[in-house]
Amino acid sequence: MQDLTVDFLVIGSGVAGLRAAIELASHGKVLVVTKDIPTESSTEYAQGGVAVALSDEDEVGIHFEDTIKAGGGLCREDAVKVLVEEGPERILELIEWGAEFDKEGTKLSFTREAAHSRRRILHAHGDSTGREMERVLIKKVRSLKGIERSQFSMAVDLIVEDGICRGAYILKGKDIFAVYSKAIILATGGAGNVFSRTTNPEVVTGDGMAIAYNADAIIEDMEFVQFHPTVLFVSTAPQFLLSEAMRGEGAVLRNINKELFMKEYHPDAELAPRDVVSRAIISQMVRTRSRHVYLDLTHMDSEFIKHRFPRIYTTCLKYDIDITRDLIPVSPAAHYIMGGVKTDLHGATSIKGLYAAGEVASTGVHGANRLASNSLLEGLVYGYRAGKAAAQETGDRRQEIGDRMRDAGCRIQNPDLNLDEIRTSIRRAMWELVGIIRCSESLNKAKEMLLQWKDILGMSFNTRQGLELKNMLTVALIITESALTRKGSVGAHYRTDFPVTGEDWQRHINIIKSKEGMKVLWV
Ligand code: FAD
Ligand code: SIN
Repeated sequence: MQDLTVDFLVIGSGVAGLRAAIELASHGKVLVVTKDIPTESSTEYAQGGVAVALSDEDEVGIHFEDTIKAGGGLCREDAVKVLVEEGPERILELIEWGAEFDKEGTKLSFTREAAHSRRRILHAHGDSTGREMERVLIKKVRSLKGIERSQFSMAVDLIVEDGICRGAYILKGKDIFAVYSKAIILATGGAGNVFSRTTNPEVVTGDGMAIAYNADAIIEDMEFVQFHPTVLFVSTAPQFLLSEAMRGEGAVLRNINKELFMKEYHPDAELAPRDVVSRAIISQMVRTRSRHVYLDLTHMDSEFIKHRFPRIYTTCLKYDIDITRDLIPVSPAAHYIMGGVKTDLHGATSIKGLYAAGEVASTGVHGANRLASNSLLEGLVYGYRAGKAAAQETGDRRQEIGDRMRDAGCRIQNPDLNLDEIRTSIRRAMWELVGIIRCSESLNKAKEMLLQWKDILGMSFNTRQGLELKNMLTVALIITESALTRKGSVGAHYRTDFPVTGEDWQRHINIIKSKEGMKVLWV
């Protein structure tokens, strides 16, 4: 495969990558690379909806307050302001491009989710909001001449010379080739698959965070992992999300003795923040010695349920659960990571030429805990902003570095290791020891286990399986180190040995690579 030069390289084809590419299209040649088929992303599976202050009863100021409150004191206020203020424009633009959000009569229909003080969640086809947004964005991308797409193309490493990001190495088939560009936008999504229980699709393995870390970018707030409370728990079924919107419409949680329990934990009961609900479920599971609790919709109108949650209804039916009549076994799973590659309000990272947007980025919008349905909006708002800023980059990155280009191909080792077994062990260790409830003992044990495989970090692979494993190990170590560093509990980070926030907690944890290993900074 020949090396390529384009003006702009976008890595990832979820909401953030596609929105950035659209913004770049009129400024030069854009290449969007994606690891799998174009739609395979968290965006495609997003159910509940997209939060936006567009209803008659809402205001951007109230959306701002709710986001700040959910973030537990660690949101960057200027980033939240951008999100809520620019959100309506980005959504109206998407509607103009053809997005069909659900309506009541002629008016947009808004639902409620946890920790929102207003009904402000737009949804599409009931519970397929992300799919509708992805459909419209892909259609728009296809309509723009300047954008080329390459599927089954995995970013392996960033090319950074003299402190400037000049492109990335891409794996396609068994070949690795370089793509040079004026600006690179990382939009690779989150890292859910680092945990054995996750709602995330298989493509989401923390690649963007790992390759940015390896390129010496700052990685921020990785201890904040959001665990979604209600994920299907049936041995023969996938870890399928049961949207929070179900509780927003009246579904309740029961323990295995069929007792309601959420009022014991929070005045908002089923609509308490996600971290509170997840911990309440775990405590009920321990108390009743069970591996799940139940989500109950049986008191609700069955025609309403089928109409409002058609994708969830038909998926559960495949596993012999009729959600209109049966209690649904659920337990929490890793869902979203608030931290990521640190950026400013325009998606610029600490490396010139490298931008990040969407779940891979840490703009500070979500603080210690993301408000439900703010992520799709973040992808649109910050994807747009990153695209707009990256379009201003100038220079010919390939010519500038001349023959100092690295030959990625000659470093391949593909060691003789059982990669699947190691992947399973990492994921299990992360779930059991760095999950919803953490302590110094569990975190140190996880670190010790992860470091058993540290030689992998120095190896080079030319298979997706090998590269993902290396990335997952990198991200697992960063999450564990961050969680060990924050000796206090806030938002989604809960430590039994430090159950309160502690002193001087309103700072962020930044991690950068150094010769001695990970360097941790409090900022
Ligand atoms: P993604 O949509 O995950 O896209 C990442 C892209 O990067 C993919 O195309 C992937 O293939 C590609 N990629 C990854 N690594 C590489 C690599 N090395 N090289 C090349 N390409 C790569 N949020 C909400 O706001 N509302 C919801 O209702 C909601 N529901 C959700 C339901 C589920 C089941 C899940 C998993 C998440 C949900 N979220 C929701 C969260 C939200 O969907 C995501 O945070 C958001 O879609 C992330 O968008 P993104 O563009 O950053 O990443
Ligand atoms: C859901 O539908 O429960 C997911 C919403 C989100 O993660 O924002």
